[in-house]
Amino acid sequence: MKPKSVRDKALEEIFSAKDIDELESLRIKYLGRKGILTLLFKQLREIPQNKRKEIGKSLNDAKDSIISAIENRKTEFIGRRAFEPIDLSLPGRKSFSGSIHPLTRIENELVDTFIGMGFSVAYGYEVETEYYNFDALNTPPDHPSRDIQDTFYLEDGRLLRTHTSPVQIRVMESGGPPFRIISPGRTYRVDAYDASHSPVFHQVEGLYVDKDVRMSDLFGTLDLFAKKFFGEKTITKFVPSYFPFTEPSTEMQVSCPFCRGKGCSVCKYTGWVEILGAGIVHRKILTNMELDGYSGYAFGMGLERIAMLTLGISDIRLFYENEVQFLEEYR
Ligand code: PHE
Repeated sequence: MKPKSVRDKALEEIFSAKDIDELESLRIKYLGRKGILTLLFKQLREIPQNKRKEIGKSLNDAKDSIISAIENRKTEFIGRRAFEPIDLSLPGRKSFSGSIHPLTRIENELVDTFIGMGFSVAYGYEVETEYYNFDALNTPPDHPSRDIQDTFYLEDGRLLRTHTSPVQIRVMESGGPPFRIISPGRTYRVDAYDASHSPVFHQVEGLYVDKDVRMSDLFGTLDLFAKKFFGEKTITKFVPSYFPFTEPSTEMQVSCPFCRGKGCSVCKYTGWVEILGAGIVHRKILTNMELDGYSGYAFGMGLERIAMLTLGISDIRLFYENEVQFLEEYR
């Protein structure tokens, strides 16, 4: 092959090379130890003297053009590579930010509402003794909630608290009155895992002990809470109830936040939903806590229930299953 046509073919290939690697193979193909051009240089010796000079010159020219063509394209590729990361036409990279779990969000809102009414936050223990969970709360040994069918017991006799009420006792033991606390936390009961039950759930406890605390204080505070939390138009209703640690006891119902009392599937067409248990702290408990000159009220509510009502969710399991779609919808 003539040096000129070798050069033309080489330049053509160099020109259409797609990347640096391809350029490198072309360099080897033409200029490497066994390269096409290198072999032509070696054959020069066999060329008659009179023609050698001329052919040698055109071989050198071809070599120079190939080298400079490779160099030019190389800088072109390096330059292009440096440009690629700022191609403004590329779609942006999406970043995903996490969010507060809906249950935690509702818990924070609930706690904040009570903080705004002068309560402070107290925490207890998820693993409790029978004393704090039952005895100190005036719950007799034959009470059904003490059955192993209802409560998770540990081998050492302790248990997973069945409610946040033991925090009442721990708070009253911890210092002097007045006490005005709110206590959110995890609670446990031997329950089925279905649309409305979970063996692990959450409660929020409230306790207010001072001189002359009355049922009317309880009604007023909880009514204000309901209006702040479910909306100004919410109506509350207190119906008689029973708890071993309050006397008298009551349950608070609110006008259904969904149908505003007209009747729907959430309130089972009654117009009302029950949201918490409450009452005046039992005299026996205050005496045990050496708080004889005092009186108080306590209340406890299920966080999941409140969250389901505010978010409009009908299956409690959605809170625990970490479905990203659900978490994104209620963030
Ligand atoms: N601990 C009760 C329950 O789990 C609720 C409650 C708390 C009732 C405080 C009265 C006072 O059902």
